[in-house]
Amino acid sequence: MPLELRTARVGDVARISQLHADLWRVSHATVFDEDFIEDPLEEAMVAHWQGLLRGRKRPGQVIVALTGHQLEGFVSASLQGSTAQVDHLEVREKMRGRGIGRSLLGLLAQRLRNEGARAATLAVPAGLEDLPRFAKRFGGVLGPVVTRERLGHPMPERTIAWADINRLIGACAG
Ligand SMILES: CC(C)(COP(=O)(O)OP(=O)(O)OC[C@H]1O[C@@H](n2cnc3c(N)ncnc32)[C@H](O)[C@@H]1OP(=O)(O)O)[C@@H](O)C(=O)NCCC(=O)NCCS
Repeated sequence: MPLELRTARVGDVARISQLHADLWRVSHATVFDEDFIEDPLEEAMVAHWQGLLRGRKRPGQVIVALTGHQLEGFVSASLQGSTAQVDHLEVREKMRGRGIGRSLLGLLAQRLRNEGARAATLAVPAGLEDLPRFAKRFGGVLGPVVTRERLGHPMPERTIAWADINRLIGACAG
C-alpha cells in the first residue's frame, strides 16, 4: 500500500494519541513514573492533540503519514516569529529506516517556509541514541540539555537548530 502524507484532521486525534502514547511508553519509560505511563499518559495525549488540532491557537502544521487507515508517523510544529519549532517527530517502530521521518520533516519544513519560516528547531529527547549523528545527517547544530515541561512532567531535551530552513529542506531531500 502506498504511503500518503497529508495534513492532520480532528478525526486523526485518536490514532495519533494512541501511537504517540504507545511509543512514549517505551521511549520515555525512565522519564515518567509508572502510574502515569498507563492510562493517564493516553488521556494526556488526547487532550494535547485535541487542543492542537481543534484549537489551532498558534499558526503551525501537523502532518500524518498513513498506509491505508494505519498511521505510520506524524510531525508537528508551530511558527514562532520566523522560526519553525518542531515539537514532535515520531515513526512507528517497525516502519523506521524507510525514509518516512525524512519525508515528514521535509514536507513540514517546506510548508512552514511558505508561511514565512526562515529558521527551524527540532526538540529531541536528550537520551535519544546517536543524537550527534542524527543532527549531523540533517545539517543541524545540536544544543545543550535543557529541561522542558511535557505533559506536565519535566523532560530533559536537546534542540537541533538550523539558522537557514533551506539547509533542513535540502538535507531531507537528499
Ligand atoms: C527519529 C525518527 C523519527 C526517524 O524516522 P525514520 O523514518 O526511521 O527516519 P528515516 O528513515 O527518514 O531516516 C532519515 C535519516 O536519519 C537517520 N536516523 C534516523 N534515526 C536516527 C537515529 N536515532 N540516530 C541517528 N540517525 C538516525 C537515518 O540513518 C537516515 O539517514 P540516511 O537518509 O542518510 O540513511 C524515528 O526513528 C523515531 O520515531 N524515533 C523515535 C522518536 C524520536 O526520537 N524522535 C526524534 C525527534 S522528537
